[in-house]
Amino acid sequence: MACFQQLPLLARRLEGKVALITGGAGGIGACMAKLFCKHGAKVVLADIRDNLGEALQREIGTEYATYVHCDVTKEIDVENAVNTAVSKHGKLDIMVNNAAIIDDGKPSILDNDVTDFERVVRVNLVGPFLGTKHAARVMIPAKKGSIITLGSVSSSVGGVATHAYTSSKHAIVGLAKNAAAELGKFGIRVNSVSCYCIHNALAEGFFKLDDEGFSKVYSNLKGVALTEEDVAEAALYLGSDESKYISGHNLAVDGGFTTINPSFGLFSQSSL
Ligand SMILES: NC(=O)c1ccc[n+]([C@@H]2O[C@H](COP(=O)([O-])OP(=O)(O)OC[C@H]3O[C@@H](n4cnc5c(N)ncnc54)[C@H](O)[C@@H]3O)[C@@H](O)[C@H]2O)c1
Repeated sequence: MACFQQLPLLARRLEGKVALITGGAGGIGACMAKLFCKHGAKVVLADIRDNLGEALQREIGTEYATYVHCDVTKEIDVENAVNTAVSKHGKLDIMVNNAAIIDDGKPSILDNDVTDFERVVRVNLVGPFLGTKHAARVMIPAKKGSIITLGSVSSSVGGVATHAYTSSKHAIVGLAKNAAAELGKFGIRVNSVSCYCIHNALAEGFFKLDDEGFSKVYSNLKGVALTEEDVAEAALYLGSDESKYISGHNLAVDGGFTTINPSFGLFSQSSL
């Protein structure tokens, strides 16, 4: 029995839609899956953490959520995940390329190992390429669809994360723009969502900060902390028909972090 509740019909923003979320077993992806289902979508969760994915499928309910094992670096797995959405629900409306990893931070590029760099790029960039390709394969005949790839503040500024992560997150914005240019003629929208640091497993593992440490990290927007739900809401918007004319856009969910430079000038925060 599903322990989650759908919203009343009139409040559902994805009623009748089918979504596939890579990295959907945990973190932001799982949060998106729950929100999408609340809004009436059927969701395919694609991940490599089978136990977590299957548990989430049970939590949401098999009527709405289907877990499929999918390593986004393997084309056959991505192809199979997309085909699962189509064979189970007849179509794919929303593709979310959310799965990503980060390598250990190292102070010098000289200590960076090429195998680590390639491993991150395979998940964070090749994965979204394969997701975009196979989503397009089934969306082109349908002449509609929304493809969303998760970026980061590291999609537009340097110095926050590793070389591999930053390179891959910049690259997915280019991929989304290029795919938007090609797929617009088929009515398919392609966008990215780039969020600031969230106090969750991925960021905790990388920055090695506890609650107190996180509360001291610089943010432009004070009095509010970014949550997984905020990122899920941005994806909900881009997946819904409310954003029907938005394509090729990188939606920053970062409280202004990447838009301003507070280190010098009229509103300098260095003295705070
Ligand atoms: N957490 C943050 O602060 C933050 C900030 C900016 C951007 N992001 C981005 O948000 C997205 C989600 O991050 P998160 O915080 O939920 O991370 P997370 O580590 O909690 O979740 C990532 C998911 O991807 C899955 N995954 C990893 N490798 C995979 C593979 N090869 N194939 C399929 N699935 C795989 C993992 O099993 C996991 O369930 C990522 O694209 C990340 O770069 C996160």
